[in-house]
Amino acid sequence: VSTQAVIKPTFHHFNLKTTRLQELIDWYSAVVGVEVTFKDATGAWLTNDAANHRIALLAFPGFVDDPDKDTRTGLHHSAFEYGSFEDLNASYERLCEQGIEPDICIDHGMTLSYYYKDPDGNHVELQVDCFGDWAASKEWMRTSPVFQANPIGVFVDPARISAAAEAGESFQEIHRRAMAGDLSPSEVPVELPGGGDAS
Ligand SMILES: [Fe+2]
Repeated sequence: VSTQAVIKPTFHHFNLKTTRLQELIDWYSAVVGVEVTFKDATGAWLTNDAANHRIALLAFPGFVDDPDKDTRTGLHHSAFEYGSFEDLNASYERLCEQGIEPDICIDHGMTLSYYYKDPDGNHVELQVDCFGDWAASKEWMRTSPVFQANPIGVFVDPARISAAAEAGESFQEIHRRAMAGDLSPSEVPVELPGGGDAS
């Protein structure tokens, strides 16, 4: 048995199987600004930063869609983080103009998160850290009774958040009101198990 410490690698990419290669390339280009590093008939390798790829797509001929995808175990979603609330909100507005709207939006306490569905039905979370600081954010998750009582968070209406920002409200105030349920959608977007929705 080795007593050596684990050398920690950095998370690099995820890989999705698809029957809609070009649709997915177009969608991830529109949503998170990926560019194609390499593509052929079997797949594509995409990135939105300096890495050679961050998203791989495989499109082998034998692949089929899973009609029960939503209840199958496995990956639930991927997530991308913006450096500021303004960037998340501007991206939300830009995507709305292109007809791409989030399915579910939640203030989790440590992140404000908008969940989109790609053309295959894979969820992609676009988020901003509510603390603007990973250490503070992690500490809040570890120790906050608010998170312990409700680790899912509070549903929010991104259009109401956008309007609040337009009216000059700070992200701090928007986050406070979101957590208090003041920016919730008129209808609960999804039933969560265990009554985890504090909407
Ligand atoms: Fe997530």
